[in-house]
Amino acid sequence: MALRAVVRSFGPAHRVVEVEEYAPPPPGPGQVALRMTAAAVNPSDVVTIAGAYPSRTGLPFVPGYEGVGVVERVGPDVADIAPGARVLPLGSAGAWQQVRTAAARWCFPVLPELDDEQAALAYVNPLTAVLMARGYGVPGMRAVVDAAGSAIGRMLLRLLSESGCAPVAVVRSAAGRARLAGLVDESKVVCTEEQELAPAIDAHTGGRGPAVVFDAVGGEQGAALARGLAHGGTFVHYGLLSGVPLPDPSRYRPDVRLVLFRLRDVVHRAERPWLERALAEAQGLTLDGETASPVAARYPLAEVRRALEHEATAGRTGKVLLLPQA
Ligand SMILES: NC(=O)c1ccc[n+]([C@@H]2O[C@H](COP(=O)([O-])OP(=O)(O)OC[C@H]3O[C@@H](n4cnc5c(N)ncnc54)[C@H](OP(=O)(O)O)[C@@H]3O)[C@@H](O)[C@H]2O)c1
Repeated sequence: MALRAVVRSFGPAHRVVEVEEYAPPPPGPGQVALRMTAAAVNPSDVVTIAGAYPSRTGLPFVPGYEGVGVVERVGPDVADIAPGARVLPLGSAGAWQQVRTAAARWCFPVLPELDDEQAALAYVNPLTAVLMARGYGVPGMRAVVDAAGSAIGRMLLRLLSESGCAPVAVVRSAAGRARLAGLVDESKVVCTEEQELAPAIDAHTGGRGPAVVFDAVGGEQGAALARGLAHGGTFVHYGLLSGVPLPDPSRYRPDVRLVLFRLRDVVHRAERPWLERALAEAQGLTLDGETASPVAARYPLAEVRRALEHEATAGRTGKVLLLPQA
């Protein structure tokens, strides 16, 4: 028998996620059975559990879009992946369990030098940050990153700074500001608890407005940033940390290019060789520290509700990890 987290009804993650015993099924054709060693808790897990995507989330389900595991058994017709391989299973939820079944074609190799904890954090945020920074950050461009103290915000700041942008970092609190120490010049940080956002961005960009904004907050804060863009600027909207939808920018800034970035769509459209290269690069950047994430805490699977309470804490110092074998 093994343990897994399970969601039977949508709601606040720390209340609705349960832990149960189950008998892992043998892998079928095209499948592998993975012993999961580490799994991330991400905002995308929490919003899925809350019921943000009911049309594509059947109940009950095992959450966890990101994690690493070791192949234990392979299905009858699986030839190109062997027991003992350490892999990232992508493309579906299910990382929050001790043994998960995954489609072999959705399992990707892990760099041997990456430890399990960083491997479990080397996909969702690193790949998104790399693709967004490369896709929309032009060297020398005036850029703004909001929720800059988040794991992905910090990756964006590093990648944009290295490509020759000097991004302005927007945080909501002193805790967010503290997480940027050594990453950006203190003078490039705007804290919305202390300053009004629009005039601060205006001052930072000499009244010209940013050419690109990376927004994971939405709501009124996202709208204020969209309003302040330079003429014809780009608004990359990729998250909804405020829980409030972004008022449609075409109503107040019809000249602005709105990009709705979703890693899930990119991954599901991609050819496997492209995805293999992109993941290897994201893992390499994690190994170099460019897209590495600090870990705030680790929890065994049996304590998943405590892990989810921690995830919801303001000022959290890094990512929350589940260690399914602990
Ligand atoms: N579209 C995609 O494909 C994609 C891919 C990856 C990530 N994302 C999104 O990126 C966002 C960040 O993810 P993450 O894993 O980097 O998060 P994270 O580091 O685990 O946590 C988010 C941090 O953002 C800050 N925050 C929370 N609510 C906020 C608000 N209303 N305004 C400003 N800051 C707020 C909090 O810091 P403080 O408490 O210190 O303020 C929190 O620690 C999420 O919305 C996620 O869904 C999207």
